[in-house]
Amino acid sequence: MMLDTRILLTGIGSYLPKNKVSNEDLSKFIDTSDEWITKRTGIKYRHFVSENEFTSDMGTKAANNAILDAGINAEDIDIIIVATTTPDNTFPSTASKIQQNIKCNAISFDIQAVCAGFVYAISIGTSMLRDGYGEKCLVIGADSMSKILDWKDRSTSVLFGDGAGAIILEKHKVSNYLRDGIQWGILGSKIFTDGQYHDLLMTSGGVSANKKAGYIKMNGKEIFRHAVEKLSSSLVMCLEECKLKINNLDWVIPHQANQRILSAVANKVGLDENKIISTISNHGNTSAASIPLALDYSIKNGEINKGNILAFQAIGGGLSWGSMILKFGKPPAFEK
Ligand code: UT7
Repeated sequence: MMLDTRILLTGIGSYLPKNKVSNEDLSKFIDTSDEWITKRTGIKYRHFVSENEFTSDMGTKAANNAILDAGINAEDIDIIIVATTTPDNTFPSTASKIQQNIKCNAISFDIQAVCAGFVYAISIGTSMLRDGYGEKCLVIGADSMSKILDWKDRSTSVLFGDGAGAIILEKHKVSNYLRDGIQWGILGSKIFTDGQYHDLLMTSGGVSANKKAGYIKMNGKEIFRHAVEKLSSSLVMCLEECKLKINNLDWVIPHQANQRILSAVANKVGLDENKIISTISNHGNTSAASIPLALDYSIKNGEINKGNILAFQAIGGGLSWGSMILKFGKPPAFEK
């Protein structure tokens, strides 16, 4: 039997902080309403970390859950990539802290592509595994967005939440006999950056600019417009690269920013809206954590199953964006 080397998604885990905050809770100290937030975004709740709970704490919990789910040991992990905009410290990486928490010797580093970070991190991890840096890669998306919210700005402070999600990518040799003709694992990814839009979504501070972390500033209307156009076009390009059609997708798991963006993308690419996983109402926008949080939730909820063809897509500051397609899980029998 012929064997192909594939990068498989074999485990998933997530973590949400305990403090769940409703729109009504926010409207007690911000000039806003449940009606406005729900109608304009679809968000009802978000979770916030406590003062002494850090991005690495959430990332560690999500990572341990993913390791358990994949049925591997932490010491088997060769690479840890953490996508985050809200690291514990300016340096060293949050990944190095998580490496120590879970106890392994993996090459560990953070990447910064804001809300698109998780899609970027999987693309990097896949390339590193293919290039021979190891057999197993832990990819984490973790963000404590509540720590960079400006509570005086109602147009951004109601949108974001905190959380973490993690996946295990494994390199395996698997049979290339396929009943549906579609390979297992990562099938393709398309990631992009356009720095001319740098100022549309940014923080008001930074280490070299003013030695502060700063607060989120966003031109919401422009970001909305770019999101619909760029999420749609990158998905179409990725489908073409994978020689697949929109109907081949079982589920699309987009970055969870605004329910209206998800509907507009579905409409633009001709996707059945029922195939879009949405956890916006309960999580808000958790930046790099939003895709793995939504993925974990929908697997546990029995929606996504092994062998399903999934698309991830995200956009964030930079602007940075991208889409990727994969066949989820491990084939029924595989040989290493
Ligand atoms: O994760 C990165 C990607 N981020 C995104 O994808 C976000 C993209 N953008 C959006 O989701 C939307 O643009 C927002 C949800 C941020 C805003 O929705 P919008 O429909 O574009 O509203 P707007 O900014 O045009 O504001 C409309 C009105 C304004 O009042 P006036 O000027 O019409 O009187 C705002 O002052 O809504 C007002 N407003 C609010 N009212 C109550 C803005 N924020 C709030 C609020 N509560 N929280």
